[in-house]
Amino acid sequence: MNLTNSINNFNEAKQVIVGGVNSPVRAFGAVSGTPRFIKRGEGAYIYDEDDNKYIDFVQSWGPLIFGHCHKDIESHILRALKNGTSFGAPTELETALAKEIIAVYENIDKVRLVNSGTEATMSAIRLARGFSGKDDIIKFEGCYHGHSDSLLVSAGSGCATFGSPSSLGVPHDLSRHTLVARYNDIDSVRSCFEESANKGSGVGCVIIEPIAGNMGLVPADKEFLYSLRKLCNEFGAVLIFDEVMSGFRASLKGALGFYDVLPDMVTFGKVIGAGLPLAAFGGRDEIMNLLSPLGGVYQAGTLSGNPLAVSAGLCALLTLKQNPKIYSHLEFLAKRLLEGFKAASQQANIPIQTNVCGSMFGFFFCSHEVRNFEDAKRADNLLFAKFHEKMLAKGVYLACSQFETGFICTPMTEKDIDSAINAANESLCEIAQGI
Ligand SMILES: Cc1ncc(COP(=O)(O)O)c(C=O)c1O
Repeated sequence: MNLTNSINNFNEAKQVIVGGVNSPVRAFGAVSGTPRFIKRGEGAYIYDEDDNKYIDFVQSWGPLIFGHCHKDIESHILRALKNGTSFGAPTELETALAKEIIAVYENIDKVRLVNSGTEATMSAIRLARGFSGKDDIIKFEGCYHGHSDSLLVSAGSGCATFGSPSSLGVPHDLSRHTLVARYNDIDSVRSCFEESANKGSGVGCVIIEPIAGNMGLVPADKEFLYSLRKLCNEFGAVLIFDEVMSGFRASLKGALGFYDVLPDMVTFGKVIGAGLPLAAFGGRDEIMNLLSPLGGVYQAGTLSGNPLAVSAGLCALLTLKQNPKIYSHLEFLAKRLLEGFKAASQQANIPIQTNVCGSMFGFFFCSHEVRNFEDAKRADNLLFAKFHEKMLAKGVYLACSQFETGFICTPMTEKDIDSAINAANESLCEIAQGI
């Protein structure tokens, strides 16, 4: 595969953009080879600057449930563009989008639109703290909620549940308000609540990806989410479901399509912007009405509710609502893909674990079940790196880390899935033979 242009583009970018990329995961740090510089996308495919074609299972990390250059979304964006790119004043479109989100999520009375998932979770946490009057928060190891200071925290050493900064520049004073629990382990959550209560501050909110997609794909156990809801009620903490990835992706109702547990607040991103910068957070009136200008919790944004992004998102949500069968079809394709990966692994005598949640899929090269981040870290990353490189060379674009989720989009066909399975067969066979 000729990669001359991508290699040259990357070298040039490194001169002027830190690490050559505007978001670290794009740098291919966890795998080998060079990041592909993408020239264009069309439906299920992307084309790099050397005109190599790939089936795209990344889909911009989730937003593109309709694939690249979907005609209706394009025309909605173009129509909005003709009226102006931004006004910094309210538009009817924003109300229409808010209504669509609220109509699907029964526990949400109001939303606020923002520009990124990071903003959505950061603002939701501030609001939850303002509502509960308590400073501590609980997050889960392996869940990612964007890059705000309170959330760039990982588990402390030993038995400590209070976290330590996972990035330079995050003050220890702040990270000590973030407690880190183990995913799918309710006892670890109770310990966090109790430790916080003992230290006096108390837990204002718990934030969780109910379908975790940032340690690979690891769905929460039903019983665990149910118990988490009960613990939040017991300790008076706001429960936030971070559905930036899973919202309108795993099912029309996101996690609510799989679990009978209602959070107090939900954060959205990705699909609701259909590839443009848009995210949101929402909740019950009693919480949301504390937000500025009605209440004392401040949050704002020059480009929030941008008309191009809102038009794209509105088109996506309306199309999804009008065609609910999309989800079962995408899940059928995801299951077919993962069954194929499983069979290929068995053939090559390489252990694999797979998960599918609607149009989201994940796999780990390991023989043990993966229920939390510790389990995920014990999967074979070296093997994944080899697999990733071989799949790329065969025209299959997978996320460049085992701790990411893959996505199916509507233009994908069974033929696309089968050619990805063939590529997996060949790749794993080569790996087994030491090639
Ligand atoms: C669950 C979740 N929350 C929040 C974010 C942050 O969103 P953004 O990258 O738009 O800031 C992400 C990003 O991948 C995510 O997966």
